[in-house]
Amino acid sequence: MPNIDWSKLGFGFSDVNCHIRYTWKDGAWSAPEFVKDPYITMHIGASCLHYGQECFEGMKAFRQQDGKIVIFRPEENAKRMYRTAVRCVMPPVPEEMFIDAAEQVIRANAEYVPPYGTGGSLYLRPLLIGTGPQIGVAPAKEYTFMIMVMPVGAYYKGGLKPVRAVILDDWDRAAPHGMGDVKVGGNYAASLFAHEKAKRDGWPVELYLDAKSHKFVEEFSTSNFLGITKDGKYVTPDSCSVLPSVTNLSLREVAADLGMPVERRQIPYEEIREFAAVAALGTAVVITPVWEITRGCEVVKISDETEVHPTLLKLYQTVQGIQYGELPDTHGWCHEVKV
Ligand code: COI
Repeated sequence: MPNIDWSKLGFGFSDVNCHIRYTWKDGAWSAPEFVKDPYITMHIGASCLHYGQECFEGMKAFRQQDGKIVIFRPEENAKRMYRTAVRCVMPPVPEEMFIDAAEQVIRANAEYVPPYGTGGSLYLRPLLIGTGPQIGVAPAKEYTFMIMVMPVGAYYKGGLKPVRAVILDDWDRAAPHGMGDVKVGGNYAASLFAHEKAKRDGWPVELYLDAKSHKFVEEFSTSNFLGITKDGKYVTPDSCSVLPSVTNLSLREVAADLGMPVERRQIPYEEIREFAAVAALGTAVVITPVWEITRGCEVVKISDETEVHPTLLKLYQTVQGIQYGELPDTHGWCHEVKV
């Protein structure tokens, strides 16, 4: 067993046994390699370095109540990475290879899956990058697919503790028909400046409006947007520049199971004032309640600083209950990894 204080896990890199790595050359993927060294060597002209030919995923493996290790909905991440790869003109990783890679790298690092009851999980970060040299703007001829793993706890300190968010109208995350709906590093690069400014000024997360009109809510820098209406509806933006989150997809199904009406539609900024609760949704953040949103001089107070709306709590407990094997997995979302 590694010497880890599981109760102190945050969301950060830590060394494990190995990552798994494949290369793509001459139209085919290599056999996997397990690599201990967290550094990678690549050509100085690699297309990922110059032209941003790269994409990634985020997913989690959980140690359940009965000791089993499961990955939460890896096929959804595999499909999203496939779509992203196609959009970036990279060779897509077949779903079967993606899931097999995830299983193998978890097996090789099984002792790093946090014990049941600690609230932690093993975070998997699949990464696909153009490693072939490319000086004229064109797709590379060689690619690397890797999955790195690390044990993690809560993304924002305090777990289900509500956070404040800010809208900074001077910066956009993604343009309509750009790449906001696929998971490329460039979307996060686009948010870094505003993100650091927000953090410096006291907001852990920033919320983006649609880049074209700044009239509609899009998503947070790290995660999707959820509003709960006063009459108990689950409302989330429908936009071609928002990343389709696996957590949001799952929570819409959980909400429907709980009998809540679910709406995916445009959300005018002004509607924020009407919500009974707001939250950020994502693999890393799970459900993070947002108690206040600031835009310029306007401060919209959604709840008290410490209050977690009962609907958010119910959604959180249900999804985590399924992930940790405490509630029946009626949708078949937990993919067991036999170790
Ligand atoms: C995730 O939720 O896994 C992500 O990839 C978002 C990342 C910015 C932490």
